[in-house]
Amino acid sequence: MSRLRVAAARERRPLAERVAAACLAASMVGTVGLGATYWLGGQPQLEGGFLFLALAGIGVGIVTWGKYLVPQGPYVQDRPPMASPDPEVEAMNDSLGRGLGQMTRRRFLLRLLGGSVGVFAVVNLFPFLRSLGPLPGKSLFVTNWKKGSRLVTASGRVVTASDLEVGGILTVFPEGFEGAPTNAIDQVVLVRAASYDLVTKPGRETWGPQGYLAFSKVCTHAGCPVGLYQELTQQLLCPCHQSLFDVLTGATPVFGPAPRPLPQLPLYVDPQGGLRSQSGFDEPIGPGFWERGA
Ligand code: FES
Repeated sequence: MSRLRVAAARERRPLAERVAAACLAASMVGTVGLGATYWLGGQPQLEGGFLFLALAGIGVGIVTWGKYLVPQGPYVQDRPPMASPDPEVEAMNDSLGRGLGQMTRRRFLLRLLGGSVGVFAVVNLFPFLRSLGPLPGKSLFVTNWKKGSRLVTASGRVVTASDLEVGGILTVFPEGFEGAPTNAIDQVVLVRAASYDLVTKPGRETWGPQGYLAFSKVCTHAGCPVGLYQELTQQLLCPCHQSLFDVLTGATPVFGPAPRPLPQLPLYVDPQGGLRSQSGFDEPIGPGFWERGA
């Protein structure tokens, strides 16, 4: 490297160090601003601006560092006379004298770089962890169906035993929860089959009065709503991956990836003709999960 270039690089060094430090510090400010904005409820434009500042600060800081503070090639020196002239000897002594200061500044820049990257990583962990949502607790095991719950439509109308013809279908909810935020897990598909066609499982002989059968609408494969009914074959169809459930045999899967039948809700007809549940579901609804198995 020619002496002129070395001298020019040496002149630019202090300025480059300040620029790199300012960029890394600005990055930390941007990251903290991003975290604070997210924590206070979020504002997309502001978060975007802070994210830009955080990433641009790290990027420009590293580029400045690499371009002006790291020795550049080509590493071919002009051959000066073997004996060093006096000014060069003085420059060397001067450089050695400033060595401690240069090391300190380099260490400071290194720490600033580590700090800006570390703060960025830690702050951005919050949105990731928060987006996982609350732990499900026991909510995967229970619904709002209880002993004696009246079946109602989405609008809250009570369902009676005269509402459906054979082959009819209706989505129902437990009374009082038709508009609740949790009603997705309470959805039940009510179908009416010809009672003489039913093949009930042992212990379920009383669960389908007058041919009314109620099954959880949450697919046991991946949780889509099982909302289609083929009256001719009396099968429920999940539109997501085409699982078919045979209504007449307790919604057992006969096609597709669903691994188990739709849980059945036991029903009875009250003295006023309304349909009610004998109890809640006797098993968790929906797809298998780690505590329940397939
Ligand atoms: S979610 Fe129903 S078949 Fe996949």
